[in-house]
Amino acid sequence: MQAGLEAIGVAVPDTYVELADLAMARGVAPGKYVEGLGVTRMGVPLVDEDTVTLASRAARMALESAGCSPEDVGLLVVGTETAVDHSKPVASYVQGLLGLSTRCRIFETKHACYGGTAALQLALDWVRSGSAKGRKALIVCSDIARYGVGTPGEPTQGAGAVAMLVSDTPALLALEAGKTGVYSKDVMDFWRPLYSKDALVDGHYSVQCYLDALEGAYRAYQEAAAEPVGEGAYSDRFAALVYHVPYGKMSRKAHRHLRTLDGDAAPDASFDRLVGNSLVLPSQVGNIYTGSMYLALASLLSTAPQDLTGQRVGLFSYGSGSCAEFFSGVVQAGAQERVKALGLEARLSRRRALSIPEYEDVMRAREHLDERPVADAAGSGFRYQGTRDHKRIYAT
Ligand code: CAA
Repeated sequence: MQAGLEAIGVAVPDTYVELADLAMARGVAPGKYVEGLGVTRMGVPLVDEDTVTLASRAARMALESAGCSPEDVGLLVVGTETAVDHSKPVASYVQGLLGLSTRCRIFETKHACYGGTAALQLALDWVRSGSAKGRKALIVCSDIARYGVGTPGEPTQGAGAVAMLVSDTPALLALEAGKTGVYSKDVMDFWRPLYSKDALVDGHYSVQCYLDALEGAYRAYQEAAAEPVGEGAYSDRFAALVYHVPYGKMSRKAHRHLRTLDGDAAPDASFDRLVGNSLVLPSQVGNIYTGSMYLALASLLSTAPQDLTGQRVGLFSYGSGSCAEFFSGVVQAGAQERVKALGLEARLSRRRALSIPEYEDVMRAREHLDERPVADAAGSGFRYQGTRDHKRIYAT
């Protein structure tokens, strides 16, 4: 049985920070952030936005894009490393806000940026096994990337959610059964201690851990795929490669490493062809942790000028700590038109820029978000209103 992505939805905050402005405020050459890290803008959520609101907005877009009713969803999993509660999952709030069936199985997954991929693989197996009985899975990756103000990680923040409708009618991307390679290792490269809102990271070590995991997962994929040895670089079997994107330059480093493993003497030469289109949207949003690789996939499908129908795409998901997976899918006829119709680039261009003092105020206010009293003038359209009697309240 086929299984894969039937529809996708993306949500980002309405506000962002220009990285060149941030660089100047920090006394750094703008080129370091914009070219050196490969990020132009990073999404910054205001105080009425959290993991739940982002997840709900992305999920609604995915359902509407597929013309799917909430009743059709039999499994909802939210992958996140920005939980809003130790016990109640983000997925329960999303179920309530979207009006999903009481017969839907719902929960949350966590493994840093890999949490969404873990949920996706589980959903694919649920569909392939026949347990879904025609119902669809809604997999949502939702996060707010947050490092301390003034730290090296600060320019690699971002926020957003990507929702994927997974079914046996994968109108966007049919994921190839059995063609997946996993690499996991207990490392301390990036973590978010329970007592801190900000992530802690051993930055340069995390880059090395990512590359080691890419190598391990890529080798495991090659063994699992067991395809006949061919001419040329192995990765030329893919029309595009989509890497986890904590910042654009990391994808460039990843690609260089992968092509070197392939024995390519000019490992950067294929970067624009195989990777460039996947970075258009991420460079405007920053790191969205669990959703980063899926935002890159949406970017590929909405910006690639060439017809990818019937072509294979390689996907690399990395979660610090760590667990990584390299897997692949085949682009379906009409997929690019469907994703283009979401108007993602136009949506990004309608956001409002925050000045650096405004951004710093938002960062301070977000420290106390969880105890914020319910605001009187509450907005509508999946907004966090505040907390009353220790319960989070959301506007529908
Ligand atoms: N013009 C152009 N480029 C410039 C420049 C200038 N004026 N000044 C510096 N650069 C370049 C540097 O040469 C460097 O490029 P290379 O990596 O190609 O050498 C780049 O800008 C960055 O410079 P530094 O390495 O000196 O930057 P840094 O030490 O301040 O920190 C970082 C970079 C480690 C990525 C840091 O931002 C960080 O810790 N980020 C968070 C961790 C992270 O994202 N890790 C990624 C792997 S882990 C993962 O993927 C999971 C996840 O989502 C977190």
